[in-house]
Amino acid sequence: MNPHILIAATIFMFMSVLDLDAQMSQTPHNLSDIVNQSYDNNQMCVFCHTPHAAEQTVDTPLWNKSLPDTQFSMYGETIAGSHTSNNPNSYSMVCLSCHDGASSINSVVNAPGSGGINQNGADMGLAPILMRPSRNLAIGLNGDLKDDHPVSILYIPGKAGLRPISEPLIGEWKGATYISDLLRNGRVECGSCHDPHYADPNGIFLRNSNEHSQMCLSCHDK
Ligand code: HEC
Ligand code: HEC
Ligand code: HEC
Ligand code: HEC
Repeated sequence: MNPHILIAATIFMFMSVLDLDAQMSQTPHNLSDIVNQSYDNNQMCVFCHTPHAAEQTVDTPLWNKSLPDTQFSMYGETIAGSHTSNNPNSYSMVCLSCHDGASSINSVVNAPGSGGINQNGADMGLAPILMRPSRNLAIGLNGDLKDDHPVSILYIPGKAGLRPISEPLIGEWKGATYISDLLRNGRVECGSCHDPHYADPNGIFLRNSNEHSQMCLSCHDK
């Protein structure tokens, strides 16, 4: 290959990695400050992803945590008569593997460095660290998802005023143009509304601002 192209490609790759780093490092999902105080490691991705030995029951790529074995109280039946799954699907379970307030944030399948693989998940050299209770971020606290927007629910156009999935989203969405881009196996999951990497201006990982409820209105024609 022409050396100039090679150099340009290398710089470009390096810049994209730095870009992701710059974004994520400024979000509350940069857990290195919370977890790494007494662990010699300043990584960010490791709390959720691993290059090897990933949890295989999970659809989310290269997942580095075992999932809670909790039976959650789900939203259940909607007014339109739809039902959520009996328990969250893995796309939402991955979030609950920290946001249930009971699983430890620093428990991973594959700890940084050579070796350190534990398929059941093991804490990274520290006592378990749970979601800080003061911040009310434990969405599935006590296994309760009844009071949250239904997740692990099929998107059926027409129900609850839902638009056809081929319609473009309203406003600028991170990583999505059409409603279909938000669905995971045809269902609404935590990742439909949130991108866990995205340093959004509101700091809550929303794929779109909910100004004038444009987020809700992108799916619900109300
Ligand atoms: C707090 C947990 C968490 C952290 C930390 C995290 N990810 Fe993710 N990542 C996820 C989840 C959850 C998904 C699936 C999202 C979905 O369903 O939309 C995902 C998906 C991805 C994907 C595939 C989808 C896409 O966006 O292209 C890539 C690539 C990725 N992550 C890379 C990274 C890298 C690189 C880092 C470190 C800089 C990182 N992630 C840190 C949770 C995390
Ligand atoms: C590895 C553990 C972990 C996983 C997995 C995880 N989170 Fe988090 N998340 C955290 C922690 C810890 C905080 C709060 C940090 C703090 O207390 O400052 C947080 C904060 C948040 C916040 C609030 C930000 C704020 O400060 O207001 C949202 C929203 C959020 N996460 C959504 C998600 C979603 C959606 C997923 C799955 C796609 C997910 N998280 C997966 C650990 C995790
Ligand atoms: C239908 C869209 C949607 C889905 C699905 C969704 N969220 Fe949210 N989430 C939001 C919005 C909008 C906010 C901001 C609400 C606010 O300002 O109080 C939010 C806020 C949060 C917060 C910050 C705490 C708060 O209430 O402000 C956390 C943590 C969170 N979500 C995690 C999750 C997790 C975990 C899941 C899956 C179990 C999930 N979300 C599913 C839309 C959604
Ligand atoms: C990704 C698409 C999507 C987004 C974004 C979304 N919803 Fe929904 N919503 C759904 C689906 C799917 C259902 C289940 C509809 C059914 O089959 O009954 C639903 C159901 C509802 C219901 C009816 C629950 C019941 O018991 O009948 C309400 C209320 C609702 N959503 C409000 C909101 C609000 C408020 C927002 C914005 C914060 C929002 N939704 C964002 C997809 C979405």
